[in-house]
Amino acid sequence: MKPKVYITRKLPDQIVNGLSGNFEVTMWQDETTPVPREVLEKEIVEVDGLFCLLTEQIDESLMEKATNLKIIANMAVGYNNIDLQSATDKGIMVTNTPGVLTETTADLTFALLLATARRLVEATGYLKSGQWKTWSPMQLTGQDVHGATIGIIGLGRIGKALAKRAKGFDMNLVYYNRSRKLEEEKELGIEFVSLEELLKISDFVCVLVPLTSQTSYMIGAEQLTLMKKTAVLINTARGDIVDERALYQALVNQEIWAAGLDVFEEEPVPLDHPLLTLPNVVTLPHIGSASIATRMKMASLAAENLMAGLTGALPGNLVNPELTSVQKGRGHS
Ligand code: NAP
Ligand code: GLV
Repeated sequence: MKPKVYITRKLPDQIVNGLSGNFEVTMWQDETTPVPREVLEKEIVEVDGLFCLLTEQIDESLMEKATNLKIIANMAVGYNNIDLQSATDKGIMVTNTPGVLTETTADLTFALLLATARRLVEATGYLKSGQWKTWSPMQLTGQDVHGATIGIIGLGRIGKALAKRAKGFDMNLVYYNRSRKLEEEKELGIEFVSLEELLKISDFVCVLVPLTSQTSYMIGAEQLTLMKKTAVLINTARGDIVDERALYQALVNQEIWAAGLDVFEEEPVPLDHPLLTLPNVVTLPHIGSASIATRMKMASLAAENLMAGLTGALPGNLVNPELTSVQKGRGHS
């Protein structure tokens, strides 16, 4: 009997065909709506492998129902949607999709930085609504990007790729990370500073740490107060890293100049969210990795991880490697 796999969203045929040769595959047949929780709770009972997206909360109560589950393959690099401790305790492997989305997400982060600094979305609305009557000296003026200081919080894969782009724009580079990155410091001329110092001296503060219990609300009222009045905050990591209420207050009180957000505490962000009312906030629907090529690579990598986990091989992107080292995983007993 083939192992059973559940896929939580309709995927391109070429990805599904690759899996269905080896596994009995069931898939939620909708491309744009997440699988309802009650459907997932039923489907997970018998499966050996789960292919999921960041929209699914894979928590302890769900895993408790999944007595055969050996691997959860998340189609994202961030895996804060999965209770990793519970998965590890139950011997369930968890994988993510690092690397393949790094450059695409760095592109989007820099695009958001430029769009926010130079008010591109506001300017388009200005033109289309017929407000453009003439050229005038201070019309739609923004912040210069070239020559400005960028502060990157989290100099990992994407943070480093962002730093390379910023260097090309002649920016001054500083970063804060829980560990020093001496090679990157040498290669990119980026300087390590404390979080407090970064917030004080940066013209652009870019958040690129993963969401964990240590980074939740890492940027709150206290941190926003330290920033320059002309500073721009860019968040393409996870919404919960920034306290949105505090951000709204900081923007309204003109403690900072603007924000560019690809991620929100609640996604999709409610349409009556106060941040959506501000002209100096550029908002995107979590599209950091959304190029056709990259999304295909993410899906393929998640499928490869799943395949490895269910055929006794070591998945390349295991985020709970302690399972294999002690031969504790359900797929490795
Ligand atoms: P990564 O390579 O793991 O980089 C994360 C960096 O954050 C690492 O350098 C890590 O330091 C640092 N870090 C972790 N916890 C920290 C803490 N408490 N304080 C300071 N620094 C800390 O990950 P990545 O591939 O660059 O991805 C980063 C995040 O971006 C993902 O987790 C995901 O949430 C988000 N993302 C969003 C999109 C989107 O569509 N908007 C797309 C892709 C990724 P160490 O080196 O010491 O571990
Ligand atoms: C997207 O947000 C990811 O973590 O891959």
